[in-house]
Amino acid sequence: MRRKALLSLLLTASLCFSTAAVWAAPEKNLTSDQAFDNKIVKRIKVENIYNHIAELSKTPRVAGTPAEDRAVEYIKREFESYGYDTDVQEFEIYTYTEPDQLELHVDGITFDPAPSSFQYGVNGTVTGELIYCGLGAESDFEGKDVTGKIALIKRGSYTFATKILNAAAAGASAVIIYNNADGVMNGTLGGPDDGYVPSLAITNEQGEALKTRLDAGETVTATLIVEGAATDKAMSHNVVATKKATQKSTGELILVGAHHDSVEGAPGANDDASGTATVLELARVFANAPTDTDIRFVTFGAEENGLLGSYEYVERMTEEDYERTVGMFQMDMVGSKDAGPLIMYTADGEKNIVTDLGAAAGARLSETGEATPYGMEGRSDHVPFTEVGIPAALFIHAPVEPWYHSPEDTIDKISLDKLTEVSHIVGAAVYQAARPDTPALGKAKVAPKEVDYHFEERELE
Ligand code: BES
Ligand code: ZN
Repeated sequence: MRRKALLSLLLTASLCFSTAAVWAAPEKNLTSDQAFDNKIVKRIKVENIYNHIAELSKTPRVAGTPAEDRAVEYIKREFESYGYDTDVQEFEIYTYTEPDQLELHVDGITFDPAPSSFQYGVNGTVTGELIYCGLGAESDFEGKDVTGKIALIKRGSYTFATKILNAAAAGASAVIIYNNADGVMNGTLGGPDDGYVPSLAITNEQGEALKTRLDAGETVTATLIVEGAATDKAMSHNVVATKKATQKSTGELILVGAHHDSVEGAPGANDDASGTATVLELARVFANAPTDTDIRFVTFGAEENGLLGSYEYVERMTEEDYERTVGMFQMDMVGSKDAGPLIMYTADGEKNIVTDLGAAAGARLSETGEATPYGMEGRSDHVPFTEVGIPAALFIHAPVEPWYHSPEDTIDKISLDKLTEVSHIVGAAVYQAARPDTPALGKAKVAPKEVDYHFEERELE
C-alpha cells in the first residue's frame, strides 16, 4: 500500500470511529521519522547545490586534465571548509587524443559518412589488399594469408580490441571494422595495447558493399590513414571526506558518492556536477549531525573512462572498511529539468538496504507521497561496490535529458525542484540509518521500517 493511501485510510478510520488513540502509535512514528528527516532537510540549502554546479560546470572536467585538477581542488576546499579532513586518492589513467587525419580510400567508393576511429587506436598509413575475416575470431584467420593485408571484419560477438589483436597476430597490417546495425560507430578499445595495428570503423552499408565485391572475386586495394592520435598517461583523483560517528559508534560506514569528471566537450552540469554538488551540500549538513555511524562522502574521478575512480576506491578499501560498509548511495544526473522522475537503479536489479531506505524516504518526502521505485541499471559508480557485495544504488532521473553527454549539458537546464527532491530523499535516507536512535544495519536486508515499493523497467535514453 502506498504511504499516501495508508494515510488517508488512517484518517478515514479515525474520523469514523473517533478512536484516534488506536492509531496514535503509527501516527507518532510517522511524526517522529518526519521530525528526524527535518533535522536534515530543513538545513539543506538548494542554492548551495546550484552554486556548486554553476562553479563546477564552467568548463568540461575531463579526467586527467587541469580542469579535473581544478574541480578536485574546489571539492577538497569545500569539504575542508565544513571541518572535514580530506584524502585525495590519486591514480593513473590513459587519455586519448583523437586523430586529426582519418581517411579510407578504395577505388570507386566515397566514404560518406566518413570513417570513425577507435579510442586508444594507433596511428599508421597502410595500403593493402582487403581480406574478409568474418567476426575476427581467432578461427576466422585460420588458413587465410592476411600478411601485410587489411582485414575487413564485421562488428559483433567479440570486442573491437579482440578483433584487432587477432588480426594483428595473424599478420594483418591494418583493420577495418564495419557496423552490424545502422549508424556510425564510436568504439573504444578499452585501453592501449602494443599489439594493435591501425584500425577504423565504417558503416554497415559501406562494409557490406566491400564484402560484396570481395565475394564476387574482385581484388580490392585500400589505403587507410590514421594520424595524429595519441594515448598518454595522466592522473585522476577521488576526493574523500569522512564524518566520524559522534556517539556510541556502531562501527558501521555509509558511503555517499558522485563522479566529478565529465566527458570531453560537455560542461556536465547535470552529469555529474549535480551529484557532486549534492554530495558537498549533504556533507555540509551532516558535518555536525549526531550519528552513531561513520559517513564517507566521495567524489570519483574517471567515471566516464569506465568507472575507474570507483574501481580504484574499492580496490584500496581495507578489509576492515569493506566489512563495515553497509551501503553506498550514488547520485549521478540528479538535477535536469528535462529528465523524467527519480528512480533508484541497482546493478543486479535486486532491491537492497539502500533502495529500502531511499524508497521509505521517498514515501515520506516526495511530492506524490509514493515510495521511490527501483529498477536495474549499471553505468555508474555503484557498480564496483555491487561487484564486491556492498549494497549500492544509483539515484538518477529517467528517461535522461536529450543534452546527455553534449555541450548543451549546462547550468540553465538545472531544476531547483529536482535537486531539492533528491537531496532531501538521499539526506533523509542516510540519516535514518546513521542517526543514533535507529538500530545498526549490520547485514540487514530491509530498512528499519518496512517499505512498499515497486520495480520499474523504465526507458533511459
Ligand atoms: N551518468 C552516466 C550514466 C547514465 C547515463 C546512466 C544515462 C543511465 C542513463 C554516466 O556518467 C555514463 O555516461 N556512463 C557510461 C558508462 C561508463 C561505464 C563509462 C555510459 O553509460 O555510457
Ligand atoms: Zn554520469
